[in-house]
Amino acid sequence: VRIVRAPAAVGKLTASWQARGERVGFVPTMGALHAAHLSLVRRAAAECGKVLVSVFVNPMQFGPKEDFSRYPRPFREDAALCRRAGVDALYHPHPRSMYPPGFDTAVDVGRLSRPLCGKQRPGHFRGVATVVLKLLLQVQPDRLYLGEKDFQQLAVVRRMARDLDLPVRVVGCPTKREPDGLAISSRNVYLTPGQRGAAPDLHKALVEGKRLAESGTPPPQVVARVRRRLSSVPDARLEYIELVDASTLESPNPRSRSLRLLGALWFGRTRLIDNVPVKVG
Ligand code: PAF
Repeated sequence: VRIVRAPAAVGKLTASWQARGERVGFVPTMGALHAAHLSLVRRAAAECGKVLVSVFVNPMQFGPKEDFSRYPRPFREDAALCRRAGVDALYHPHPRSMYPPGFDTAVDVGRLSRPLCGKQRPGHFRGVATVVLKLLLQVQPDRLYLGEKDFQQLAVVRRMARDLDLPVRVVGCPTKREPDGLAISSRNVYLTPGQRGAAPDLHKALVEGKRLAESGTPPPQVVARVRRRLSSVPDARLEYIELVDASTLESPNPRSRSLRLLGALWFGRTRLIDNVPVKVG
């Protein structure tokens, strides 16, 4: 796999592919690649002639007390996985080239950034939107692939792409799960064996909430039931459970066409998130 580090070089590479008529699919990541990233790569490869993956642990999306310094960075393994998966190029920019001294610009995607994870992680989606915009401007891909596990991130990036007329198609891909239902995430490696045993309860509780909501239970009761179920998970602390309109991420109203039930649960210093779609009507 070709490894590119300079922002100017990555755009040239993409342009050379596009000049030959290839469609370029882009999978942005923070590394520590796993089966969920590889499923995005497979989807990109099925739809595009060339696939480019970026690995960049973006300091701007971590809060001061978050896990930026201990976030896993197994770059050699990531490169080997990309090679085996048939990725055409791996873009691994240096932090100084992404954020040179004096860098002082941010992208703020208004209302979608504020609820849910945005409430608990102020500035997180500014950091995500800013780095994704920078990566898109550098890479200039035709399609951008993101997972639905980070449902709010996907909504924020879609909004930004629409609002700023970015010439890219944003493709949301279904959450990849372990056989017991736990959403695959780079942070799962932090879990102790006991926490790993209890972690699938988040998904189980969301699926139970989905069933209740789809059979007509009003949203406040659905949320209360899911919260109650999760309050008894050993070693866990519930951050939020919310049932929202899937397009506004605000409370559902009679015109809501589809809903999303989302949650965040802590095990010690590890924060897990997950979500499921909820049909209405
Ligand atoms: O989902 C992620 O891994 C990151 O938030 C992203 C999209 C690569 C931006 O840093």
